[in-house]
Amino acid sequence: MSDRPYVTLSCAMSIDGYLDTTGPERLLLSNAEDIDRVDQVRSENDAIMVGASTVRRDNPRLLIRSEERRAARAAAGLPLSPIKVTVTSRGDLDPDAAFLTTGDAQKIVYTPLARARRLDERLRGVATVVGLRERVTMSDLLRDLVTRRGVHRLMVEGGGTLLTQFLAEDLADELHLVIAPIFVGEARAPRVVTSGAFPWTASHRARLASTRQIGDVVLVRYALSDRFDPYHRGELVKNIRDTAPLEAR
Ligand SMILES: NC(=O)c1ccc[n+]([C@@H]2O[C@H](COP(=O)([O-])OP(=O)(O)OC[C@H]3O[C@@H](n4cnc5c(N)ncnc54)[C@H](OP(=O)(O)O)[C@@H]3O)[C@@H](O)[C@H]2O)c1
Repeated sequence: MSDRPYVTLSCAMSIDGYLDTTGPERLLLSNAEDIDRVDQVRSENDAIMVGASTVRRDNPRLLIRSEERRAARAAAGLPLSPIKVTVTSRGDLDPDAAFLTTGDAQKIVYTPLARARRLDERLRGVATVVGLRERVTMSDLLRDLVTRRGVHRLMVEGGGTLLTQFLAEDLADELHLVIAPIFVGEARAPRVVTSGAFPWTASHRARLASTRQIGDVVLVRYALSDRFDPYHRGELVKNIRDTAPLEAR
């Protein structure tokens, strides 16, 4: 068994590389068709992860929306939606947040050991709190997910602080980057990544796996590891759909 799950990073950004604005409203970057694609990718993963700031700012439910996909998961003996995972060092998570209170699957909150007891008391009954050493690293977290929680496929949906760690530590297998046709233009808004030393540079470029127009946005898929699986079920389903008219001829 590998010491980490297969990791898919997924996010939507503006043309100028921002994940959000600094304003009070959540920024809508995606469109309905792309939101449905994300729902499909979610349904193919064992767990979905976001950072604690995203839980606080967006209050996402992170559930599978499509009835068919939920039914397919139920038929396969899976929870209707994947396990939800987050990480916090401050422990500032509201036990009533939709992330923690919705869905039938387990919610796991990683935090440094020193913070775990108090957070466990705060979130008792809504989440499993896991303390990991002095500082939570993504490699420790991934090892715990695969060895102790049975998570073999993890989808990481941001924000930028989290994406930065997976990328800089070379712990991701693929990146799904959606580019929306808008500009944010605010230097203080969250970017798709923060500063970091990334493995992909001018002399070591990431491998472009595919591009796809989805209405007014573009999905760019990068292969980031040798484990990259082009026949990931989501892509297979799409390919079968794309080739069906030809076969019918
Ligand atoms: N467009 C998109 O696809 C998309 C997707 C997701 C999010 N977003 C946006 O991105 C913004 C949030 O991004 P962000 O970069 O500010 O935050 P983030 O990545 O969502 O969360 C960062 C927080 O996660 C916790 N954290 C991260 N790494 C940790 C580690 N190794 N150990 C312990 N805790 C750790 C910390 O929480 P504590 O502060 O609790 O210690 C940290 O402040 C929001 O505006 C959201 O709307 C956009």
